[in-house]
Amino acid sequence: PPNIVVCEDAQAASRKVAEIIIATIAEKPASVLGLATGSTPIRTYELLVDAFRDERVDFSQATSFNLDEYVGLAPKHPQSFRCFMDDHLFKHVNFSPMRTYVPDGSAADPAAHAKLYDDEIRMVGGVDCQLLGIGHNGHIGFNEPGSLPDSRTSVVDLAELTIRKNARFFDSADQVPRRAITMGIGTILESRHIVLLATGKSKAKVVAQAFEQSPSVDLPASWLQTHDHVTVVLDNDAATVE
Ligand code: GLP
Repeated sequence: PPNIVVCEDAQAASRKVAEIIIATIAEKPASVLGLATGSTPIRTYELLVDAFRDERVDFSQATSFNLDEYVGLAPKHPQSFRCFMDDHLFKHVNFSPMRTYVPDGSAADPAAHAKLYDDEIRMVGGVDCQLLGIGHNGHIGFNEPGSLPDSRTSVVDLAELTIRKNARFFDSADQVPRRAITMGIGTILESRHIVLLATGKSKAKVVAQAFEQSPSVDLPASWLQTHDHVTVVLDNDAATVE
């Protein structure tokens, strides 16, 4: 069963996740980190930047693979996940630029690029610690309801709910790309340690469903129950179903 850690508030939960990542790198400086975007991990990244400035973490030997990217957005597009990662983490710390991987949404052949990305994760020896958020429909990465538990990194269609939720980052919903490249659920489940962070009341219901109901294709995050080293970090709000 997952190890569920409930923290007082989002700040404490973010700190817990940052400390897990710092400990991962302390133990193995050449760790492969799986990283996530969305609002949820932003505070964790800020804390990692602080830790780097205090010389409590060194990313110089580490590698990172992000979960996903919108198809059609070039790395330099301000709403791309590559840009998000540069802004929130990469440009403030000392990863080797050659070792921060984010799928390229502008690849000429997105399906081939996705397959190559999956191969690259394997070639570096797999992910040591994979950070995840969770969507309101239970998606992880961009694996929407209906995704299979053995899916690999591929091009997927976004759910209507995801497009609507993510419209807040664009001028309007019709500017949100309809497809993404995402690590598959099978790819994610090969990570040695998976850390899911969820904060806020709006996530309480889906978190409870993901870890209290049997695994099902209707709720992608529920497959995490089949993994033997998952840490779920919640704040009080996300841990409490009203
Ligand atoms: C996004 C991402 C996910 C993320 C989720 C929740 O669209 N592809 O990786 O976990 O939605 O986002 P938020 O943290 O903003 O609630």
